[in-house]
Amino acid sequence: MYTTMKTIDSAVSKNIFLMFFENEDGLSPVQNEINKKFSNVILDNVMKNFDRKFLSSMVFPISSGEKIIALGLGKKEEFTLDKLRETASKVSSLVKSDTIDTAAIELVDVEFDKKRLFATTSIGVNMGNYKFDKYKTKKQDLIKTLEIIINYNDILIQDGENISNIVNSSMDFTKDLVFESAEVMTPSKVAEIAKDMAEELNLEIKVYDREELKKMNFNAFLAVGQGSIQEPKFIHIVYKGKNPKKKIALIGKGITFDSGGLDIKPASSMLTMKTDMTGCATVLGVIRAIAQLKPDIELHCMSALCENMPSGSSYKVGDVLISKSKKTIEVDNTDAEGRLTLADVLTYADEINPDEVIDIATLTGAVIVALGNNITGIMGNNQEQIEEFKKSANETGEKVWQLPIYEDMQENLKSDIADMKNTGSRYAGSSVAGRFLQNFTKSKKWLHIDIAGTAYIDKPYKEFQKGATAVMLRSLINYLLKN
Ligand code: BES
Ligand code: MG
Ligand code: ZN
Repeated sequence: MYTTMKTIDSAVSKNIFLMFFENEDGLSPVQNEINKKFSNVILDNVMKNFDRKFLSSMVFPISSGEKIIALGLGKKEEFTLDKLRETASKVSSLVKSDTIDTAAIELVDVEFDKKRLFATTSIGVNMGNYKFDKYKTKKQDLIKTLEIIINYNDILIQDGENISNIVNSSMDFTKDLVFESAEVMTPSKVAEIAKDMAEELNLEIKVYDREELKKMNFNAFLAVGQGSIQEPKFIHIVYKGKNPKKKIALIGKGITFDSGGLDIKPASSMLTMKTDMTGCATVLGVIRAIAQLKPDIELHCMSALCENMPSGSSYKVGDVLISKSKKTIEVDNTDAEGRLTLADVLTYADEINPDEVIDIATLTGAVIVALGNNITGIMGNNQEQIEEFKKSANETGEKVWQLPIYEDMQENLKSDIADMKNTGSRYAGSSVAGRFLQNFTKSKKWLHIDIAGTAYIDKPYKEFQKGATAVMLRSLINYLLKN
């Protein structure tokens, strides 16, 4: 979907979405114009018949073929960007029945930063409008162009279109990667897509294959991938702003399919495991957006891509892996593979001397037990960074909750023969996984984001649709733009 900024006389769509507050009887400037144009439809019809409650909607057809679709926003004094985003996400479903590919929506008339109102509206509509229909013979009608109607006085919403379209297309990009089957989205395929993207955006990229990775001692990572016929790949992409104020390493878990390995998962748990590369898809989406938004930072995105499969060549429980950091790990469970791949990447990230490190991963089932499918678990070793990230997430309407990591959790990971095991007690599983990762970073500013519960959801939640959510993509972009 493409968003464009329009005034009332330049908008062409016949689906016109207007937003109303419960306790406001006056019309916004845009509504006033439309009211005049369509012989008092708003004053005589909408204001009289529509309850204007939050999330309610009503369609008012006009004889000339246009449709006014009224959206309720509830009480004006209770307005939030979150409510706007959720309201906007309903737009697509309200025009779907027609074969109409454009919609127009007014920029809501409230005292607020116009740029944020604009982006929030566009992003909300786009979130509701996404569909992975590549494999459907019959495609659904979706909005191709969204016109956001601004007031004449709002004409200076600089970059509004630009930011919205960049963020939206990066979200769609990430979702496309996650929805695709593991049969297609192999490590090599992801690497190829990353290369194409990097080339298009003039980013440096290096893709390492098995032989190179052996020389670089990515032994924990390579162990996870050794049961698969798919060659593992490690990708490292760099964005350099004009005057970079800091260097950030952003790492995404890239398991293109997680069968569990020899500790094979039960059928029901394996069903969604093509999504175990969501961390990678997210960091690719983030750098794709950052390369276009061009903040003054240096961003290094990294992902270790492989399949976790059972076979005659698989790694086994009891194996002792000599990780890239030289620390040794006894494999306690082959299904705790993500942390093994991340361990080596965290060590690699230290080599570039980043000011901070962030990893994002579908890491533990335990985070779903703790926080469910709509709240992302975060943890780390620097409270300041955690607070900053919380703030960024809050602004984008993405829910996060901090989980603790304590030093003594290392007890859980004790091995009789190696420096540690890759799993510990089932209890506090997400924190224990976090504690495991912490062993492999030297960074004083390391944040770990566990999206196992939120990356792929089986029922819609607010503006988040069923399936791939691209969760944390906007929080990360927002965080990187601010810091
Ligand atoms: N990829 C899974 C975590 C996961 C679970 C992601 C559910 C999305 C939805 C991860 O590799 C895994 O298997 N973790 C194990 C760890 C355990 C063996 C310590 C888990 O959480 O069960
Ligand atoms: Mg696993
Ligand atoms: Zn996994």
